[in-house]
Amino acid sequence: MENKTQNYHEILAIVKLLQAITFLVLLAVVVIGITLVEVYTGVFSRVFKSSQIIATNNNSQPLLKEKPDYWTAPDTATIPNTPEGELIRYGRNLIAHTAEYLGQNGSVMQISNGMNCQNCHLEAGTKPYGNNYGSVASTYPKFRARSGTNETIVKRVNDCFERSLNGKALDSNSREMKAIVAYIKWLGKDVPKEQTVKGSGIVDLPFLDRAASPEKGKLVYEQKCAVCHKKDGSGEPKPNSKEWLYPPLWGEKSYNHGAGMYRISRLAGYVKYNMPLGVKYPNSQLTDEEAWDVAAYINSMPRPAKDLSKDWPDITKKPLDHPFGPFADGFDEKQHKFGPFAPIKAKREAMEKSKQSIKIAQK
Ligand code: HEC
Ligand code: HEC
Repeated sequence: MENKTQNYHEILAIVKLLQAITFLVLLAVVVIGITLVEVYTGVFSRVFKSSQIIATNNNSQPLLKEKPDYWTAPDTATIPNTPEGELIRYGRNLIAHTAEYLGQNGSVMQISNGMNCQNCHLEAGTKPYGNNYGSVASTYPKFRARSGTNETIVKRVNDCFERSLNGKALDSNSREMKAIVAYIKWLGKDVPKEQTVKGSGIVDLPFLDRAASPEKGKLVYEQKCAVCHKKDGSGEPKPNSKEWLYPPLWGEKSYNHGAGMYRISRLAGYVKYNMPLGVKYPNSQLTDEEAWDVAAYINSMPRPAKDLSKDWPDITKKPLDHPFGPFADGFDEKQHKFGPFAPIKAKREAMEKSKQSIKIAQK
């Protein structure tokens, strides 16, 4: 009898011990789980932060969402119903559906290659880090070293017509140019003069410590891009339309080698936060390496040429990744095209410093 009760107590003790161990293990699993989710996604601290914002906001309206700390476009519903508003709306249409109006079979003029401005300036030039126009109205006219002149918005728009759309310049007095400029100015109307707002343009990705690799980029391209842009980069026309369903990335219908996208830093930064289609900053489907490599691959393929002999009158001002010589820094065209860029940057900084110390010595 006594033996039995003792056994019973022992079993009870073991069961309690097991319960305690199970509880501790479960607790550990939960804690580790939460930590891992936080480390990989940061979701809890974000929720915590936004609940703090709700708590500390004195305004009667609680802020349900953190306002993004980057530029967002004004609401198109606020475009006035005036002749000026008409012009702004027409400008937006020209950006979004350039091919319909100004492409090879355009209804107004035939001066460009069938792409839309919007193919590269996503969501009519409003998408965060989608090569948007957020800082154009505030920073133009400005000196640009490519032309060596003070450039107006008109000149900058025509640069894209002549290079990105491999076409002809629009007359600055045309209704079309006036509309495009009116729209771009309207988009940037709330940005203070001289300011470049966060989220505008294209992200500058950190440099790789090696040259970007077209061979590695080909693999990325075939896995993540070819479904839409096609294996041969020729894209796919939209049925019953003058526009592209998937615009071409190389070949005769694509941007020419004087275009901004022909610099791999521009193409890589664009791709990182916008492609495959649907990707949005701050999320991305490519690592920085994949973005640089796929850009190296795309810009190794054939495309229309442009006479660039008038560009960069001061060759010391060429961007690190401008791929055509002559250069003042002693690096060759290949390294300027694919990198590694850090050594070029360091050399240029050293040259700049010695130029300054010579100036001081001469004083
Ligand atoms: C093939 C892609 C492509 C197409 C199509 C294109 N652009 Fe661009 N555009 C670029 C790139 C790349 C830049 C340079 C961005 C940078 O330097 O970070 C640029 C720059 C600009 C800028 C200056 C932006 C700034 O912040 O300084 C304006 C304005 C502009 N484009 C207007 C247009 C217009 C208008 C069209 C259509 C007629 C057009 N672009 C079509 C790729 C394109
Ligand atoms: C699901 C289809 C799809 C996939 C996948 C995709 N794209 Fe695109 N891409 C598009 C569309 C559509 C546009 C034009 C967007 C617009 O007009 O709003 C575009 C535009 C572009 C542009 C600018 C326009 C041009 O033709 O020069 C580049 C560059 C680009 N994509 C590169 C890539 C790269 C690199 C990948 C792979 C990492 C990729 N895309 C994957 C659909 C896709």
